[in-house]
Amino acid sequence: MREIAVLLLGAATVMFTDKTSSKPQTTRSAVEKRSFGNTPEGAAIDLYVLKNKNGVEADVITFGATLVSLKTPDRSGNMADVVLGYKDLDGYVNDKAYLGATVGRYANRVANGKFTLDGKTYELPKNDGPNTLHGGLKGFNKRLWAAHEVSSPNGQAVRFSYVSKDGEEGFPGNLKVDVTYSLSNDNALRIEYAATTDKTTVVNLTNHAYFNLAGEGSGDILGHELTLHANRFTPVSSTLIPTGESRAVKGTPFDFTTVHSIGERIDQDDEQLKFGKGYDHNWVLNGGKGAAPALAAEAHDPKSGRVLQVATTEPGIQLYTGNFLDGTIQGKSGAAYNRRNAFCLETQHFPDSPNHPDFPSTVLKPGQRFHSVTIYKFSAR
Ligand code: GLA
Repeated sequence: MREIAVLLLGAATVMFTDKTSSKPQTTRSAVEKRSFGNTPEGAAIDLYVLKNKNGVEADVITFGATLVSLKTPDRSGNMADVVLGYKDLDGYVNDKAYLGATVGRYANRVANGKFTLDGKTYELPKNDGPNTLHGGLKGFNKRLWAAHEVSSPNGQAVRFSYVSKDGEEGFPGNLKVDVTYSLSNDNALRIEYAATTDKTTVVNLTNHAYFNLAGEGSGDILGHELTLHANRFTPVSSTLIPTGESRAVKGTPFDFTTVHSIGERIDQDDEQLKFGKGYDHNWVLNGGKGAAPALAAEAHDPKSGRVLQVATTEPGIQLYTGNFLDGTIQGKSGAAYNRRNAFCLETQHFPDSPNHPDFPSTVLKPGQRFHSVTIYKFSAR
């Protein structure tokens, strides 16, 4: 245990450990691997099941390095699947909502599908009105990832690897990406991202899990209580592109520095909430610039008692409250996913950073290594 981030949250002390550099545990059973079907092109997709000693289980597939299931206990020990998903591979192949997916090469939006690097302008496919969203028409969420079990001090672990070709979806450089999921005995799902390139490019990677701590398909998340460790957010235009301003949250419906239910202010008469059709914004995290993950968010479902704490090395987090879910997706247990039936906490660099030199840089150069860690830790109270 070399790096320990101790974070103070009100009276409670929250400890996240990041044990990458210590020695792997010696005995552990192999990660279970199953078939998850074939894509329409005939590619075989595998499902990996990470388990810990408490019966917590995280299932990840090689299609999109997607988290398809995450079972955690409530305050009475009852397990529920707390992430939205489809019942089979077809759902993921046809998905437009990014349920559980690994998102890249550039998570979130790039204005007008365009940016300039070293004097050269790059054009990306526009798939969100005038803008590019989540990597373009065929982002990392629709790609086939190679997977293998790895030895990790953090518990059972699987590494997903993908090589994004020079020019893919308009981005420069061959980008080698590794996404490693591990599940520890303290009920923390850790996602570690690493990438290298052979040409200067931009990178922004996240996971797009939709959480409902009462269980997927159990209705809306408006009663979930949320804290965000962020004093500022980045306001957007009507097409959800940051204006460049970093605005104080104090006195606005964006202030989650103290606990508020997600639904308390979501329908207030506020221009930013109108643009997002609810919350769909990037918060500027108070921590998140160091090498160790810092606490970014805490969500609590008062009914089940489940708590989710998110810690990250990333500078921003997108709270998206499932505003575009409209009941057309039938979830894995048969229930329709309606508006605001889940929330996402997408750890990230700020949207449209390639066009905002003042934002933390998303540029990756040959010889550099992109590296980030996000931890989703579960408990109940
Ligand atoms: C992100 C975006 C949202 C929406 C979802 C996917 O969270 O910010 O606007 O596109 O992805 O539906």
